[in-house]
Amino acid sequence: MSQSAAADPAHDEHSSFIKTPQQLLVVLFLSFAVPISGILLLVHLVLGSHAVDPAALEPNVVAARIQPVGSVEVIDANAPKVVKSGDEVIKAVCGACHTTGAANAPKIGDKAGWAPRLKLGLDGLLKTSIAGKGAMPARGGVPDLSDLEIARAIVVMANQSGASFKEPAEPKAAPANDPKAAPANDPKAAPANDAKKAAPAAKK
Ligand code: HEC
Repeated sequence: MSQSAAADPAHDEHSSFIKTPQQLLVVLFLSFAVPISGILLLVHLVLGSHAVDPAALEPNVVAARIQPVGSVEVIDANAPKVVKSGDEVIKAVCGACHTTGAANAPKIGDKAGWAPRLKLGLDGLLKTSIAGKGAMPARGGVPDLSDLEIARAIVVMANQSGASFKEPAEPKAAPANDPKAAPANDPKAAPANDAKKAAPAAKK
């Protein structure tokens, strides 16, 4: 009887593929390892996505994040406006284009790029800078800048690029830090960019 059962092909089909104790051990091991590693991956996925950047919990960062939508800045209307120096204006505004040459702006120090423009003189350059020209926005894109501040920035930029403009004085008095600046109350002072007018005086 047992002999015929062993030879029965139908009986073979139903038999397990686990034939040896080693195979049983492997199957047992896998039946634990596979689901557990799956669970570990899920746990990692869930916890990992909630990881918090410690820098985002700094008190000042949190305060900035939860501040009210509107905030009021009190500005004293009577406070004297501080006139920026040419360097300050360039650092804050003009340099974005004119130190890098972005948008094909003439780079500070690029004498060849500035030479044809310098022919306009300080007044001409001031006019185009106030009005804007091509990719150059009016007043460098900052309407708050006064004519004097723009002129100062132009003087600094141009003088590093082959010109020798004189910095325009503040309207009330010559700036204390620049004793060479023409006194504001002397309308006859030769403009710095007008070399021809000044030259004849030196001749005999
Ligand atoms: C967004 C970029 C940008 C900023 C900001 C900018 N400029 Fe310009 N600027 C240009 C470009 C571009 C030109 C060349 C325009 C042209 O010739 O078509 C130019 C040209 C000029 C010229 C020559 C004008 C002429 O007539 O040839 C002067 C002077 C000048 N800029 C001054 C300034 C000053 C001063 C500031 C800051 C208050 C400033 N720029 C900020 C892009 C910029």
